Amino acid sequence: MGIQLEKKQKIHRMVHKACLFDLDGVLVDTAIYHFQAWKNLGKNFDYELSEEQNEELKGVSRVASLDRILFWANKEASQAEKNAWLIEKNENYLALISHMNPSEILPGVLDFLKQVKELGYLIALGSASKNAEIILQKTGLISWFDAIIDGNHVQKSKPDPEVFLKGAEALKVSPEACIVFEDASAGVEAAKRAGMKAIGIGDPIVLEEADKVIPSFSGVQAVNLLLF
Ligand code: BG6
Ligand code: MG
Repeated sequence: MGIQLEKKQKIHRMVHKACLFDLDGVLVDTAIYHFQAWKNLGKNFDYELSEEQNEELKGVSRVASLDRILFWANKEASQAEKNAWLIEKNENYLALISHMNPSEILPGVLDFLKQVKELGYLIALGSASKNAEIILQKTGLISWFDAIIDGNHVQKSKPDPEVFLKGAEALKVSPEACIVFEDASAGVEAAKRAGMKAIGIGDPIVLEEADKVIPSFSGVQAVNLLLF
């Protein structure tokens, strides 16, 4: 290993210790499957979800997403109906993701994870999804993670910082030593409220609260990106 790289690794270890990744839209593009499943569900009450509305559902939990869709559709529903629809949506989503494989990992992600490990960072997942582990298994991403915090482990969804604070706790590092990667503005807000650095993946206008924004992981040099 070159002396320069060794030096940079030391600097990285002193400043930040962990990288916390959102899943949907950051590591894999599951938004298309969520969109399809919600659109299918909307047929129950003759509602056609638009792409713009689907954008607003990024990072939002399943229960909160249904509430928003019912609000947009101006549809009243009993708790029993809502519960049945939540099950229907998820069964549909599970069928759609059942064929996922490593080819659906977003460009540059594997190389970036490798660089981050080599720089000595711990890696955790901080996702709102209750299906995160299935997706990590199917894509083979699971072996990269030192801790996994997902929708099954939290009470409050993003923008509440709970998911990232639990990630830091699981890794035994302080929040200030964490860098979060997020594609949703609710996720960036959660990271900032947790006292962490936030790197947005996507549109700088949507993710204006982030400390830095990159369009994707493609060709990204971790050694430069992670120094603040
Ligand atoms: C987030 C997605 O990661 O997880 C949302 O961006 C989704 O679109 C949420 O609603 C919950 O996912 P799941 O798999 O528990 O329904
Ligand atoms: Mg996301």
